[in-house]
Amino acid sequence: MSALAPSRIVLLGAPGAGKGTVAKVIKSELGLAHLSTGDMLRSAVKEGTPVGTQAKTFMDRGALVPDDVMVALIEERVSDADCKGTKGDVQFLLDGFPRTLPQADALADRGLGPHKVIYLNVPKEVVVARLSGRRTCLGCGTPYHIEHRPPQKAGVCDVCASELVHRSDDHETPIRKRLDAYQQMTAPLVGHYQDVLETIDGNQPPEVVANSVLYAIGASS
Ligand code: AP5
Ligand code: MG
Repeated sequence: MSALAPSRIVLLGAPGAGKGTVAKVIKSELGLAHLSTGDMLRSAVKEGTPVGTQAKTFMDRGALVPDDVMVALIEERVSDADCKGTKGDVQFLLDGFPRTLPQADALADRGLGPHKVIYLNVPKEVVVARLSGRRTCLGCGTPYHIEHRPPQKAGVCDVCASELVHRSDDHETPIRKRLDAYQQMTAPLVGHYQDVLETIDGNQPPEVVANSVLYAIGASS
């Protein structure tokens, strides 16, 4: 990882803005641990843990999982070895957290505020089309799209060969609810993080978005 690149990055943006897609690129360039709270919750649901059982009721209807649950989940995850830098500092690429002002405060209170926040700006009608056509890998979480990014073999992940599924919240009613929750609870973080914010036009081809993000974090010229 470049000595100048930020080591605590937050990806911010509406559902379907492309956070997961761009996270895969940043992770491979900078080697940061990719912490997707959506993926962590979906794993917990699949394993039937108490957190998963509680979270499922919120996720299926497109609502946010309560802050105390999410803060505890992240607090535990950032103590893992892959979040430790060579100087013992905490490093991460957060995707889907924080999503509320109390979650942002919880990070700051623990001395873990982000060095850089990448805001992927995409119009609402575009994200609705992206989400309804998305297919997600059950194994590694890689997102595909039936038109824009189909897998080489239908229904199978190019990366890990696991099954691709249509997420239960990627249907019209929960999509609308997720967008409302984003507008009310998450969009205020754009102003909150204005001092460390880089706004990227996310309504461009995936390679263009990825290059713009890498440039913004100083990982390319
Ligand atoms: P989460 O899994 O984080 O869902 P989300 O924020 O709604 O975001 P998505 O994963 O849907 O979209 P994305 O921005 O990652 O886009 P992607 O790259 O996949 O959270 C799910 C749920 O968990 C929440 O609703 C909530 O209930 C709960 N939760 C999670 N974190 C929480 C928290 N902190 N607090 C409380 N609750 C929490 O791309 C989308 C599609 O578009 C794909 O098909 C992709 O191939 C395509 N695409 C991507 N980029 C482009 C491009 N540039 N051009 C064309 N297509 C593109
Ligand atoms: Mg995602």
